[in-house]
Amino acid sequence: MPHEPSAPAPQPHEPPPNRLPPGFRWGVSTSAYQIEGATTEDGRGRSIWDTFTERPGAVRDGHTAENACDHYHRWREDVALLAGLGVDAYRFSVAWPRVQPGGRGPANAAGLDFYDRLTDALLAAGVRPFPTLYHWDLPQELEDAGGWLTRDTARRFADYAALVADRLGDRVRDWITLNEPFVHMAFGYALGVHAPGRALLLDALPVAHHQLLGHGLASASLRERGGRVHLANNCTPVTPASDAPADRKAADAYDTLHNRLFNDPLMNGSYPDLSAYGAGDDLRGALRDGDLDLIGGTPLDGLGVNYYNPTRVRAAPAGAGLPFEDVPIDGVPHTAFGWPVVPGGLRDLLLGLRERYGDRLPPLTVTENGCSYDDGPGADDTDRIGYLDGHIGAVADAVARGVDVRGYFTWTLLDNFEWAEGYHQRFGLVHVDHETRTRTPRASYAWYRDLIAAHRAGARPDPARA
Ligand code: GAL
Repeated sequence: MPHEPSAPAPQPHEPPPNRLPPGFRWGVSTSAYQIEGATTEDGRGRSIWDTFTERPGAVRDGHTAENACDHYHRWREDVALLAGLGVDAYRFSVAWPRVQPGGRGPANAAGLDFYDRLTDALLAAGVRPFPTLYHWDLPQELEDAGGWLTRDTARRFADYAALVADRLGDRVRDWITLNEPFVHMAFGYALGVHAPGRALLLDALPVAHHQLLGHGLASASLRERGGRVHLANNCTPVTPASDAPADRKAADAYDTLHNRLFNDPLMNGSYPDLSAYGAGDDLRGALRDGDLDLIGGTPLDGLGVNYYNPTRVRAAPAGAGLPFEDVPIDGVPHTAFGWPVVPGGLRDLLLGLRERYGDRLPPLTVTENGCSYDDGPGADDTDRIGYLDGHIGAVADAVARGVDVRGYFTWTLLDNFEWAEGYHQRFGLVHVDHETRTRTPRASYAWYRDLIAAHRAGARPDPARA
């Protein structure tokens, strides 16, 4: 997907509500560990994030998610916020350690009860549940047995998926198996800046395969129970810092690791060439006969795309551990997290996926997109609104150029526990006071609500989709 740099400023555009087809699905995404809290209640087991947050220096200012947004108790209030937004769908995640405290064996009924109540309340509010089964909160006992470095975790994941589907499958149609297996592998197992905090560099590659294998095995169980299967990949368009062949090669290498390693097996049924990493095509011995068929043999019902920003890289100096080096993207605004704001990157990414996978690309849904700004509850929130407007416009541009994008889910409903950043990054449409847990909708909440309503009221029929 390396491509020419996008124009930094978003082009003026007709408002997306007029350009996206009727039936386009609007949503919001969250994840269990970031909002639920109640980490020791109702039989929940320990997760790798509970352990990681206790490690000195692992999370900024020693923040923990023990209480997070207390969604476990305040879920009714949060469902009311979703209903007020008027979203079609809500992407939440199910905490594996609530359902199977040790990651194996029978279900913990109280854990499943929580998601059962949430599902019913969403449906009663007219919001379609769109659960993710794994958003990085592995039961600690499974990590102690090797975590995603071992093949057995893939089998355990499929068993867990079946337990959840047995309980919710009569009301849930669409499932997302994994959230961002690239980020989980890279940050959690290669660099050690996320749980489980292992810094294995390229020895983390089996984590890619075992997650995808877990997806493949779980997909079969979900389909047997009538579900439709999606997977949410973090994707980034990659540009070389210069035209020099070495930088172009570095951009290709990064694109392979970040994008192709997790998309090619799903769409092409094979892994990309990892020789830039000194790795063969067996992912350090993890790949076995038949695995690729389990992973990519049955087409996905939809691919989730999580996009925040593009990436620019150059060749690393000789002797560095990896063949690329990150280069800052200047000349564009940056969020409070320091991430460059490039809405055109989302358009390029969606077009690039279409170009790369052609007819093998299933319908896409933007399953995460959002930004962190340190706005207080009464702030004008213009940066966040500008970010969302630009990126939704970019989706409309891609749709106008023939990419089949079915929905857009913004990240996120509530300011929450932002992993290694603790409570420092605020991504919510709703401000949360982390002392009192009081929720106060921001101006962007009203803006998104109005955009959804305008789309419903006025979307023009699109003859191409009729
Ligand atoms: C994604 C992740 C989310 C959220 C977001 C913002 O990578 O799936 O959980 O943290 O980034 O940083």
